Amino acid sequence: MSQHVDLGTTFCGVSFDSPFVLAASPCTDDADMVTRAFQAGWAGAVLKTTSVEGTAVDLVYPMIVGLDHEGKRVFGLGNIDLISQHHIDEIEGRIRVLKKAFPQKVVIASMMAAIREDWKTVAERLSAAGVDLIECSFSCPQGTLGTRPGFMLGQDPKLVREVTAWVKEGAGETPVVIKITPQVADIVEVAQAVKDGGADGICASNTIPSLMGVDLETFVPYPRVDGKSTYSGLSGPAIKPITLRVIAEIARNVQIPITGTGGAADWQDAVEFMLVGARTVQFCTAPMHYGFRIIEDLTDGLERYLRDKGMRSPKELVGKSLAFITSHEGLSQAKKVVSRIRPELCIKDDLCYLACRDGGHQAIELDENRLPLLDEEKCVGCGLCLTVCPVSDCLYMEEVKPEQREDSQEGERS
Ligand SMILES: Cc1cc2nc3c(=O)[nH]c(=O)nc-3n(C[C@H](O)[C@H](O)[C@H](O)COP(=O)(O)O)c2cc1C
Repeated sequence: MSQHVDLGTTFCGVSFDSPFVLAASPCTDDADMVTRAFQAGWAGAVLKTTSVEGTAVDLVYPMIVGLDHEGKRVFGLGNIDLISQHHIDEIEGRIRVLKKAFPQKVVIASMMAAIREDWKTVAERLSAAGVDLIECSFSCPQGTLGTRPGFMLGQDPKLVREVTAWVKEGAGETPVVIKITPQVADIVEVAQAVKDGGADGICASNTIPSLMGVDLETFVPYPRVDGKSTYSGLSGPAIKPITLRVIAEIARNVQIPITGTGGAADWQDAVEFMLVGARTVQFCTAPMHYGFRIIEDLTDGLERYLRDKGMRSPKELVGKSLAFITSHEGLSQAKKVVSRIRPELCIKDDLCYLACRDGGHQAIELDENRLPLLDEEKCVGCGLCLTVCPVSDCLYMEEVKPEQREDSQEGERS
């Protein structure tokens, strides 16, 4: 009999019917869109960041530029969007409507303010409207309201602690989550400041300030807004490894619940986020690219994966990989691995040979049939040949026991 899997999870004491949440973005800047997303099956949605009435939000267009890589569209996405043009009065109404229509779904509000009074009162009003969680954006690459342009609150641990405490004063019983930036020297110091400020959870992390490229004809970087450009926030698959490190570093050092965002595009990515410590996973670029319907693949994939692993809940995944992460000094030098080849799979593109010759240890020669010959003595097991080979499993790494090496040396001598 197949085992029952329940995709439900919790974050900051709030129950989610799955770990899959829409991140604050254009996907969540409209009540009808969030309604459709909930109907499609998303467990929760972070409404696009709101602010106090009267806050000027001066958008410019175009605001989005894609980073394509070798034929793959939207490997990354750059945006120069700002917070929502819908202020707190409108968001209060949306929260009430959405919570009434979808009591089981999680409605999260995202907020930003310039002064202490506004951080506090916006949190107070969101809480009174019945929102499930309050997320605070300390990490918009265009900057935080009331600070110098481009400066993110999340870059100053002292301010992080202080402003978090202001929000907590207003939020009452509603849990508060701080959305941080990966663009800092010491992410653990920032996460500790979030915790010291009294936050209930942390959102790790956000887009990364980037310059998306330059038009070689006009010399103007992208996106081009009437002949000028500025730095974008980079999201999508390109930033996943950075997000994974940020989540892992926080999970290893600070006891605080984590929701992950930045580069998750499918259920496998979400599992990775959870394995390094995230309890829920937020998606923005993927639904902007492929639509809300990706939730079907996310839930089906996660359910099958958990069943295959003999697990009943995504909660069992959280932090499972952390025990395998150590510092470089903590890695063993005792084991020797070498590359091996399955010649029947080789397509003779010479890439492993060229990479090893010019970027490795000259451990690969080509035989008279252009098949790679590996020299075990020269191979240090760096892994470059596997990395460049386009055929999966054509090359693989194998551990060599010391006696095997001695035997092969004996064989060569005799
Ligand atoms: C066009 C756009 C607008 C965004 N607006 C907000 C926002 O208002 N508030 C916020 O906290 N994050 C905002 N984000 C960041 C996303 O919530 C998300 O954290 C980020 O895109 C990384 O996730 P992803 O790689 O799944 O896209 C925005 C992202 C994009 C692409």
